Amino acid sequence: MGTLPYQTQPPSSSRNLPGYTWRLLLLGSLIVTGLFFQPWPLNRWLDNNFQAQCHGSVCAQPFPPANRSTYSDAYDSPEFKKRSALRLSGAVKIPTMSFDDMGPIHEDERWKPFPEMHQYLETTFPIVHAHAIREVVGGYSLVYTLEGSSSDLKPFMLMAHMDVVPALTALDHWTYPPFEGKIDGDWLYGRGAADCKNNLIGILSALEHLLESGWKPRRSIVLAFGQDEEISGHYGAASVGRHLTSRYGEQSFAMIVDEGGSGLDTVYGRDFAFPGVAEKGYLNAIITVEMAGGHSSVPTPHTSIGILSKIVSKLEDYEMFRPHIKRESPIWGYLNCVATYGKKSQVPTWIQEAVASTKPDFDSIAKSFAETSPPSRYLVQTSKVATIFNAGVKENAMAEAATVYFNNRINIFSSTSEVAQRYTELILPIAKQYSLSLQGKSYSQEPSIGNITIEWNDPLEPSPISPTTIDNVAWESFMKAVQASFGSGVITTPSGGTGNTDTRHFWNLTHNIYRWSPSRIGTRLNIHTVDEKIKIDTHIEGIRFYTELILIVDEATDAF
Ligand SMILES: *[C@@H]1O[C@H](CO)[C@@H](O)[C@H](O)[C@H]1NC(C)=O
Ligand SMILES: *[C@@H]1O[C@H](CO)[C@@H](O)[C@H](O)[C@H]1NC(C)=O
Ligand SMILES: *[C@@H]1O[C@H](CO)[C@@H](O)[C@H](O)[C@H]1NC(C)=O
Ligand SMILES: [Zn+2]
Repeated sequence: MGTLPYQTQPPSSSRNLPGYTWRLLLLGSLIVTGLFFQPWPLNRWLDNNFQAQCHGSVCAQPFPPANRSTYSDAYDSPEFKKRSALRLSGAVKIPTMSFDDMGPIHEDERWKPFPEMHQYLETTFPIVHAHAIREVVGGYSLVYTLEGSSSDLKPFMLMAHMDVVPALTALDHWTYPPFEGKIDGDWLYGRGAADCKNNLIGILSALEHLLESGWKPRRSIVLAFGQDEEISGHYGAASVGRHLTSRYGEQSFAMIVDEGGSGLDTVYGRDFAFPGVAEKGYLNAIITVEMAGGHSSVPTPHTSIGILSKIVSKLEDYEMFRPHIKRESPIWGYLNCVATYGKKSQVPTWIQEAVASTKPDFDSIAKSFAETSPPSRYLVQTSKVATIFNAGVKENAMAEAATVYFNNRINIFSSTSEVAQRYTELILPIAKQYSLSLQGKSYSQEPSIGNITIEWNDPLEPSPISPTTIDNVAWESFMKAVQASFGSGVITTPSGGTGNTDTRHFWNLTHNIYRWSPSRIGTRLNIHTVDEKIKIDTHIEGIRFYTELILIVDEATDAF
């Protein structure tokens, strides 16, 4: 027979009792002193060391769980499913592609499908169009305003984008052409079916149904649908952000819900919803090496191509950025939630130990988390990768210039300047070794034989982190909508995202921004690639989620 752990403790003898009693009394009086006289910041100590460990505030879920509204009942019928599939299919048929080199509005022919999309939405959702005011902003983005009966309540915003990434190559790999909107059994195929016309049509379908049923909002609802999310939203969402800031002011919205996050998945035996509650920053490093050209028959020992290759190779091999987690990290919330709600037998020991620890070792936690998968790594680490490489035009001429782009998605606790500094640090020794100037400055004794320049392009600092405690009405409403649409047993946990959405232009409108495409993992596939598709049931679930969310946010108090 084995020995149980507690049996290894020596039984306490009566001799020890007075000692324990004395210590208990001392501890008790210290606590009383702390609570009543506060000679030291006991509350803060408790907050930092106690609350964070008992996970209560981060992972507490609404109880009793929110129930489905009767408005959602209509979505169970086969007719509704068929109608919804056709609506989404119709939207997929309109090739609203956005290209990296998109020219100005009204000039570039490639914007042409957008007015067609506007028309399609108008004919498909006549009731929304009859009740809401629609504005066209930034060329082709749409802002709908559905006035609520209580003008003193902060408005609520739902977002999606109308554009899709191009589908012009590898067409023979698609099961059905990308803009056919093909419905095949349980699935709908096509570019945009999953990113994110399902959200666009889902939001409008929910509102159309509510209005058709006679429902009226107390709180105004704003819908913002961008035209260029896939190219960073500089025309569309940026204009919408300015437009809404000038109309309503900063921090004027109750809550914003956009696409994003990591859907709904079963982890360690439990269903979790993973909304993104922060966004990484962004920066391109464009590195150019300039050296003398010349005839290839009399080469110099080094060329712009050779030097740039050394730089690329060093940057690629080097561990430029490390995984990083702090107590405020959405991922720390995530780890606490999976440890609290996951099946104990399935939650890895390192997670259980991490959340049980009084002094978590965040460096080793970040490292363990990063090692679980590449997507996990880039939730907690700045990414870097070479994406464009250009050099040379003639086979018998040395290239005068060679250029590479490194794309970076910046971890939420870092910054563009920290990333820029890292590049400079790593490139400097190469500049020294080969006698090249760096950013116009020479670092070696030898005369400079060329220039290395780094241009910083499209910078974006990481976003603020949205609140994720149940005492925040927005987060509570979000969790309730998940319960009401996906089931009372689904736990909502903070999560991150590896990319950006149009919300990058809306950070000033509210702290309460949640990015989530309502869908179970595996039912929304091949985003940005061949055979993008979505399960029609997933689209229906999305409509249900938006319906419940609209109702719950409308009923919430205005303590946003
Ligand atoms: C949801 O329904 C259950 C069962 O009828 C009930 O016990 C619970 O209180 C309801 N939840 C809410 C938030 O009303
Ligand atoms: C390096 O930059 C300097 C200053 O702009 C310029 O005069 C020089 O021609 C450049 N060298 C090469 C090899 O392009
Ligand atoms: C948000 O507000 C700050 C300060 O008012 C401003 O500098 C910044 O450009 C704004 N950001 C956006 C995305 O509008
Ligand atoms: Zn998208």
